[in-house]
Amino acid sequence: GKSGYDHYMLKEIHEQPTALRQGLSGRLDELSGTVTVEELDDVGTPETVHFVACGTSYHAALYGVELFREAGIPAQAFLASEYATGPAPIPESGLVVGVTQSGETADTLSALREAQGRGAETLALTNVVGSTAARECDHALYIRSGPEIGVAATKTFSSQLTALNLLAETLTNGGVKSRDLVAGLRDVPGDIQQVLDQTNAEEIVDKYLSHESFFFIGRGQNFPVALEGALKFKEITYEHAEGFAAGELKHGPLALVTQNTPVFAIVTGDDERARKTIGNVKEVEARDAPVIAVTDGKSDVERYADHVLMIPETHPRTAPMLANVQLQLVAYHMANRLGRAIDKPRNLAKSVTVE
Ligand code: F6R
Repeated sequence: GKSGYDHYMLKEIHEQPTALRQGLSGRLDELSGTVTVEELDDVGTPETVHFVACGTSYHAALYGVELFREAGIPAQAFLASEYATGPAPIPESGLVVGVTQSGETADTLSALREAQGRGAETLALTNVVGSTAARECDHALYIRSGPEIGVAATKTFSSQLTALNLLAETLTNGGVKSRDLVAGLRDVPGDIQQVLDQTNAEEIVDKYLSHESFFFIGRGQNFPVALEGALKFKEITYEHAEGFAAGELKHGPLALVTQNTPVFAIVTGDDERARKTIGNVKEVEARDAPVIAVTDGKSDVERYADHVLMIPETHPRTAPMLANVQLQLVAYHMANRLGRAIDKPRNLAKSVTVE
């Protein structure tokens, strides 16, 4: 049942600390700063990595790309529906990772089969033991999120991001900063709990109930979070929402920005990317768009924002995971206020088993 929550989606958002603890259990060694994943014992360091996935899982894949690139391994994410049908650039000695919560998404299965047909090694990153993807791939890494009933993926996305960190750390033998990352991962469940306890997402969406178009911007690993924030939002609120790489705004989308288009800007850390994104925030502010900053407070983005959704300070790789939880809550509360069918949005199915 829904354990007292109005919707499975809200229940599953609140289950994230538990889901992530399950996903990390026995896989982190804090003392040595290493990650051990039994399922990956017989997977070597790949020369290249291709991710194939759909929807929310594709956003997780985009996040995963950077983890491998940071370790010097060329990586790319592909939409499974494109990979399966076009002249796919399958690497000869590479690893193809299917990111699929259900393990049953037809497009992702086709892409994986295509890769196998060309001799690639395949790995399923999935929630479901015994799923088709898990059975057909050479390897499976389980995200251990527990069953997800809501059509809109929430806890499984967070679990995928966690598992992608484990995958990258294991296959690339860790980076120099592994100990910090292990500590960051260890703290994520508690940090998410803090977001859940302290969020002001509901008060913020109340101010924008009559708006019909919403934008989400981010850079680096906050770019997939922007895409995911927009997908979740459109999926359950039925309002128009789009996610952009912050730097792309001025190449077209800025034409749509007015006082009627709230912009959610995800800015974590205080590096060059954060500073550049703040530059983009100033651009939308100059067009009178309401700005909602999702931030850890390390930069001064708050100065340019109408509202702030705070997240705890954490490792650069785990910050996007916390920002995403705030955006899940934004989508949920907006949809709830608008009286939408949150757990079963129109035209959508939990598992898409047709191409
Ligand atoms: C959106 C959502 C979908 C799925 C997509 C892939 O909330 O849930 O976009 O992420 O259909 O599903 P899996 O991960 O089962 O392959």
